Amino acid sequence: MRAVTWHGRADVRVDTVPDPVIQEPTDVIIEVTSSGICGSDLHLIEVMAPFMSVGDVMGHEPMGVVREVGSEVTELKVGDRVVVPFNISCGTCWMCNQGLQSQCETTQNRDQGFGASLFGYTKLYGQVPGGQAEYLRVPFGNTLPIKVPDGPADDRFVYLSDVLPTAWQAVQYAGIPNGGSVLVLGLGPIGDMAARIAQQLGAGQVFAADVVPERLARARARGVTVIDTTEQSDVVGRVRDATDGRGPDAVIDAVGMEAHGSPLATLAQKATAVVPDAIMEKVMQVVGVDRLAALDTAIEAVRRGGTISLSGVYGGATDPMPLMRMFDKQIQLRMGQANVWRWVPDILPLLTDADPLGVDDFATHHVPLAEAPEAYMNFREKKEGTVKVLLQP
Ligand SMILES: NC(=O)c1ccc[n+]([C@@H]2O[C@H](COP(=O)([O-])OP(=O)(O)OC[C@H]3O[C@@H](n4cnc5c(N)ncnc54)[C@H](O)[C@@H]3O)[C@@H](O)[C@H]2O)c1
Ligand SMILES: [Zn+2]
Ligand SMILES: [Zn+2]
Repeated sequence: MRAVTWHGRADVRVDTVPDPVIQEPTDVIIEVTSSGICGSDLHLIEVMAPFMSVGDVMGHEPMGVVREVGSEVTELKVGDRVVVPFNISCGTCWMCNQGLQSQCETTQNRDQGFGASLFGYTKLYGQVPGGQAEYLRVPFGNTLPIKVPDGPADDRFVYLSDVLPTAWQAVQYAGIPNGGSVLVLGLGPIGDMAARIAQQLGAGQVFAADVVPERLARARARGVTVIDTTEQSDVVGRVRDATDGRGPDAVIDAVGMEAHGSPLATLAQKATAVVPDAIMEKVMQVVGVDRLAALDTAIEAVRRGGTISLSGVYGGATDPMPLMRMFDKQIQLRMGQANVWRWVPDILPLLTDADPLGVDDFATHHVPLAEAPEAYMNFREKKEGTVKVLLQP
């Protein structure tokens, strides 16, 4: 089959790889019909490169049609339409029963000291072949795939794999009081959707900061108060002015930071053969400073006693945090990979023809698998108005 494969920093290709086969009696094989490119995929071709291998199949946001089922699969049959969560979770262990699917005890990567395996991700998360491919092997066929009805286009359901539950969890963890205020940092797919969900769930004031014009325009069109800068003092000043000088009740960081001063970053720099070290170090310093700035802005902006919710992925093991400032402000901080299944029952009722979250036209680009390399680069560089790409194998 054809699949998007990892070849190095800023280098993905479309290769022919072996078709997946049933390995366990509870496996299913799906034919992928749509597969998102995520901000997390960009980490794999940047900072997380040392934890990838040439030929790894990318992608963790797929949906499709069941083509084959293992002998013990009772809950799905050939022809069923399913969305596949990005966490590979068993659905039956202690963690899954707590709604902590990202910590599934059946797929936890204990040898690496990391949580549940993820599709199309690093060695730290099991190095499981991903869903930017024509076919995908999905384990736990009775409990993992989300069955969805035939009829509406894939766009209606595909974001159940990641964007919707991640943004939903970001808003839940933000604990915005009814009618309260929230500032979203970053208007990529995750921040954009988090702002929509915050509105849907009754936030009174929704602010969002980014610098990419198309992204700001999308949020503005839906009634978000946009702040067209990421400069900390400006962002903090503008939200304070609009919140009686206090700052918002909650801040959602949908940017992430992973390059700054961390063991991972150092490894990444060493592993970089393609880019001269001096240049790469410079790039990583800039990236690092940028990404740290988002968290710093969150800490400064949030009102005293407020909550910060991190959905941006953090890779740095030793990044300094201003603990004294956080303690003094009595900030609450929640974070983590989204527990996809935890939120699916809450989200499904909103995926209707009325489309309150605007999923039907959320994607800016639908492209065939063959054009994945160009789409990745456009997404990375925020060119061609790229906000969300759906690959259609
Ligand atoms: N927790 C999870 O389960 C989960 C799931 C999916 C994605 N993520 C993470 O969420 C983050 C966002 O993902 P995405 O797909 O929206 O990616 P993205 O890269 O498209 O979006 C990030 C946005 O942040 C903006 N930005 C950069 N620095 C900023 C700053 N200092 N202040 C405000 N905005 C700033 C960028 O311009 C960009 O628009 C990534 O780190 C991704 O890995 C986490
Ligand atoms: Zn994703
Ligand atoms: Zn489990």
